[in-house]
Amino acid sequence: MLNHPITQSPILSIIGGTGKQGTALAARFAKAGVPVILGSRDAQRGADAANALNARLNLQNVSGTSNRDAAKQGDIVLLSVPYNGMQPILEDLKEAVQEKIVINIASSLDPEKKTRAKIPAKASITAEIQEFFGERTRVVAAFQNISPEKLESEDAKIDSDVLVCGGDKDAREKVVALCAQAGIDAFDVGVLANAIAVETLTALLIAVNVKYKVKGAGIRLTSVPRATTKDG
Ligand SMILES: NC(=O)c1ccc[n+]([C@@H]2O[C@H](COP(=O)([O-])OP(=O)(O)OC[C@H]3O[C@@H](n4cnc5c(N)ncnc54)[C@H](OP(=O)(O)O)[C@@H]3O)[C@@H](O)[C@H]2O)c1
Repeated sequence: MLNHPITQSPILSIIGGTGKQGTALAARFAKAGVPVILGSRDAQRGADAANALNARLNLQNVSGTSNRDAAKQGDIVLLSVPYNGMQPILEDLKEAVQEKIVINIASSLDPEKKTRAKIPAKASITAEIQEFFGERTRVVAAFQNISPEKLESEDAKIDSDVLVCGGDKDAREKVVALCAQAGIDAFDVGVLANAIAVETLTALLIAVNVKYKVKGAGIRLTSVPRATTKDG
């Protein structure tokens, strides 16, 4: 994996980084010193979004370009686009993501009713992406269960855990380590078959948001050691 020469951090490229969740993730990681590249279907929109984020947060480590160039330049490529618009993006990125880690953050939800889970044809969205990119790309699921409000909060630590699963242990560990850099407790929750549990959990959390009139309900694992929190 390439590392940024100054920070020794992997470069994080966020495809669809102009959107709500992509911007929130970019803000969180860039504030922690991670070099971030925002991708867009329109390179100028990506550059504008990066300039706006740098200006808003007084940063210099966010840049923006087309989705494909962002994927080429990044070490870890995070897909932050709606599931229903993903296929043309996957086709555009297939060559660029070979030998890289790809993070899927999309959830398996019923588009008609997002408080209801809907299992896709190939078991999970993450499994579909893994199959499409092939075995030279290591795809993990992560960030499905954390809200943009939490990511954008000023808190040094976030009180929502991130669950990371996928077919490659080293890829899972690298994503867990990246999260730790940004004050996010992430946990390796195992193999690719578990991705459907992470993806459908979002429907429960959205139901909680609706029922209890909150934004950003999240989950916390109990009885596990915590690397980044003060409260153990
Ligand atoms: N929002 C949340 O609370 C949340 C929480 C956890 C996970 N997620 C997941 O994060 C991902 C992004 O969510 P979001 O709320 O940030 O979405 P969004 O704002 O609707 O879209 C993100 C970006 O994707 C591109 N895009 C939009 N529609 C597209 C389409 N039909 N085809 C291709 N690209 C399209 C746009 O970028 P350009 O126009 O610049 O290309 C847009 O700025 C989704 O998979 C979502 O399930 C969201």
